[in-house]
Amino acid sequence: MCGTCGAHGTQAPLSVGGTRIVIVGKGGVGKSTVTALLARLFARGGARVIAIDADEQCNLGATLGVDRATLAATVPVSAAGDYVEEKTGARPGEGAGGMLRLNPDTADIVDRLSVAGPDGVRLLVMGGVQHAGGGCLCPENALLAAAIAGMRLRHHEVILMDTHAGVEHFGRALARGFDSAVVVVEPTYNAAQVGVATARLARELGIEDVHLVVNRARSRTDRDRVLAFVEQLGGFTFSAIHTLPFDDKVAETEPSVEDLLDDSEIARAAMHLSQHLFAGDRADDLVVTS
Ligand SMILES: Nc1ncnc2c1ncn2[C@@H]1O[C@H](COP(=O)(O)OP(=O)(O)OP(=O)(O)O)[C@@H](O)[C@H]1O
Ligand SMILES: [Mg+2]
Repeated sequence: MCGTCGAHGTQAPLSVGGTRIVIVGKGGVGKSTVTALLARLFARGGARVIAIDADEQCNLGATLGVDRATLAATVPVSAAGDYVEEKTGARPGEGAGGMLRLNPDTADIVDRLSVAGPDGVRLLVMGGVQHAGGGCLCPENALLAAAIAGMRLRHHEVILMDTHAGVEHFGRALARGFDSAVVVVEPTYNAAQVGVATARLARELGIEDVHLVVNRARSRTDRDRVLAFVEQLGGFTFSAIHTLPFDDKVAETEPSVEDLLDDSEIARAAMHLSQHLFAGDRADDLVVTS
């Protein structure tokens, strides 16, 4: 039994609730690794998990451990012509024209376009989102912006979105769709600089709950270095600060986190992170009685 979180190993049942989390940070700091670990751990804890790949490089599926045949058959939302046309009135690649619906109803997007991954995690691949919410009026980006803004949450559900560097392109759609941002950094000045800038942007866009994850930390000193960099950069009040250790096993077993889940340093630390992130309950379907 873990003295800090009360969990056994890496499969503790989650308490009730649900949350929507966007994972951000500089390129290569470990965003996809953290997203995949959280997704698998939340799912093993009993949550219904939707993992969204909003990085055009589309490697979250492999990191989650989705099998190759399923990945090969996965159609990104931005390329799902019939769906994009049904929702927006125009096909991907077509100009805006006068008929584009800018606020399409995307409530069925996960049911229609996600694929099943291990532990029941649903993977939704967004495809090209460079300008979603950023004023681009092509149909696929109108759809992606609406999908990001419209992420409705059910009880016991966790929505995790992996991104590429920067979140400007999501605009305020991000805060409508997500409750928390997890800013991943590695112990370098440049990663901290991007992390602080992204954290500020996430708050400006309306996400109050912003966590810092110091990934690939080899010692307590690495965490302290990052916090010193954050101060040098003008400071930022994170909701919480977490550390994930450098773990050789990550490189040995990549791309999938599968073999990390049962027994690894990083999965044990990620379990603590998952418990912390799940502490709030933000499900839209909660009935509150006085
Ligand atoms: N805690 C860790 N210990 C050791 N290696 C790690 C750790 N976290 C991530 N890695 C490795 O670092 C590399 C980058 O990780 P990852 O792909 O998750 O980063 P990313 O931020 O998603 O990158 P990108 O911006 O390119 O999408 C991978 O090879 C991954 O296996
Ligand atoms: Mg990535």
